[in-house]
Amino acid sequence: MPAKKPVVVVTRKLPDAIETRMMELFDARLNLDDSPMSREDLVDAVATADVLVPTVTDRIDSGILAQAGPKLRLIASLSAGVDHIDLASARQRGITVTNTPDVLTEDTADMTMALILAVARRIVEGERLVRAGEWKGWSPTFLLGHRLWGKRLGIVGMGRIGQALARRARGFGLSIHYHNRNKVHPEVETELEATYWESLDQMLAHMDIISVNCPHTPATYHLLSARRLRLVRRHAYVINTARGEVVDENALARMLRNGELAGAGLDVFEHEPAINPKLVALDNVVLLPHLGSATIEGRIEMGEKVIINIKTFIDGHNPPDRVIEAFF
Ligand code: DGY
Repeated sequence: MPAKKPVVVVTRKLPDAIETRMMELFDARLNLDDSPMSREDLVDAVATADVLVPTVTDRIDSGILAQAGPKLRLIASLSAGVDHIDLASARQRGITVTNTPDVLTEDTADMTMALILAVARRIVEGERLVRAGEWKGWSPTFLLGHRLWGKRLGIVGMGRIGQALARRARGFGLSIHYHNRNKVHPEVETELEATYWESLDQMLAHMDIISVNCPHTPATYHLLSARRLRLVRRHAYVINTARGEVVDENALARMLRNGELAGAGLDVFEHEPAINPKLVALDNVVLLPHLGSATIEGRIEMGEKVIINIKTFIDGHNPPDRVIEAFF
């Protein structure tokens, strides 16, 4: 008799090719209309699944995990970040967690660079104005932004995405500075001509652009606090494509409104999908709906990683993207 296929509950709609493959390999319970799962739906899912495939929109906290059925052994998240999952609770229950690193690195770095350009060169302001029929023609002093070439970029979190951003930014003539828990490998530092700042406070005080590229963990919650944001120079820009929780959003909005910061480019927010109305009211901010990894290629590769993680785990091996709690 063929072995019973594992019940794999997928919380959101995935690319067709991924769903088709999942149906072939697993007893996959898909979410074809892509409606976000309620708490009750998630409780049902963990109670019945062998494997849960959540995304960043599902909060898998200790309350949800307390309802997990005995069969649930793997949470194979379709995401690089895992701050939506209570890792300690999963560990205590013997549930393995995997994620999908690497395949969204380049896309997220592209989007970070796009936000830097958009904010510093006022691309979105200009586009809005043209569409509104308000452009009166070229003028020497019209909608001036700031030159990137020769400026200092301070990267908070020099992991894969931070490094991919640094490679791009060098092409735009930015000098690379970073703060990280540890210095990166000397070869990488040399390649990127990157300057390490042990003190985040010191780095913030000397940069023209700050980019947040670290994961959200208890240690990085409001890492850019009101106090730290006050250290940033008035003409500087803050970019965040990591997680909204890393920046004190209220303090950021207040300072942008008061001209204590020049602008911000934000792809992530503290209370997604809600966006702080104080940010929406500002012209010097570019707001995106968490699009950092939103490419067709990236999503398919993320889905493929999820499948490989599940398959390896079900076959009794260590899945390649097992999340090590200490790294987050
Ligand atoms: C992630 O995977 O962590 C991104 O933020 C969403 O794709």
